Amino acid sequence: AEFLTTGNALAGKRLVVTAGGTREPLDPVRFIGNRSSGKMGIAIAKAAANQGAQVELIVGSVSVDLPNDAGITVRQVETTEELLAAVDQAFEGADALVMAAAVADFRMEAVSDQKIKKDAHGELILKLVKTPDILKTMGQKKGHRLVVGFAAETTALVENGMAELKKKNADLIVANDVTKVGSGFGADTNQVTILAVDQAPQTWPKLSKAAVAKRLVALIGQRLGGKTN
Ligand code: CTP
Ligand code: CA
Repeated sequence: AEFLTTGNALAGKRLVVTAGGTREPLDPVRFIGNRSSGKMGIAIAKAAANQGAQVELIVGSVSVDLPNDAGITVRQVETTEELLAAVDQAFEGADALVMAAAVADFRMEAVSDQKIKKDAHGELILKLVKTPDILKTMGQKKGHRLVVGFAAETTALVENGMAELKKKNADLIVANDVTKVGSGFGADTNQVTILAVDQAPQTWPKLSKAAVAKRLVALIGQRLGGKTN
């Protein structure tokens, strides 16, 4: 077992961490969502706070309790647009961003302001348009700040993850194959491969999300050593 050791590897650092899934409304009573539990992002926030970081945790929909730790400020949002606004604001004074949230890629072109009635439709076709890519937006303007993304893949993990690293101008991508048992959505464990532009992919063993978080925070600490705002 890996213990929640405390330290000061991130003392004086400000981290923005996102967790959970965004929801895109269809009408006043319905939304499109995803299976994110929020566990991975919350574990990262806790591990960073345990290393002395000041953490702004921005959460969408989660299926677990929100943390109540010294050093973590929690902010709740619903949609991708709201998440973007919150991240953009928090990223201003931050040293690093970790995008663990499962962000909806599409939203309704026009949200119905009345409940959609079944008798009004024989079949229902929803028109969805793309949401902004938050990781990419922050990556493009990061300057000296560290940007960490996740890649949930079902195939060609390293190839797709490396493509994403470049496309989004991230420093690190935590790639996981969500089809594997004990990886990804809802699980308490995760088996990830760490991708960076300047080093070969590192595949970690299947670990508890707390242990993955601790290792990731150690990596972030190393990279922030020479990187301050
Ligand atoms: N992400 C984001 N904004 C979006 C979509 C994704 O910031 N609108 C972030 C996620 O938080 C994650 C990373 O981008 O850190 C990768 O998300 P993922 O869904 O795995 O990949 P996408 O780039 O969205 O591509 P696709 O879903 O088509 O595989
Ligand atoms: Ca996506």
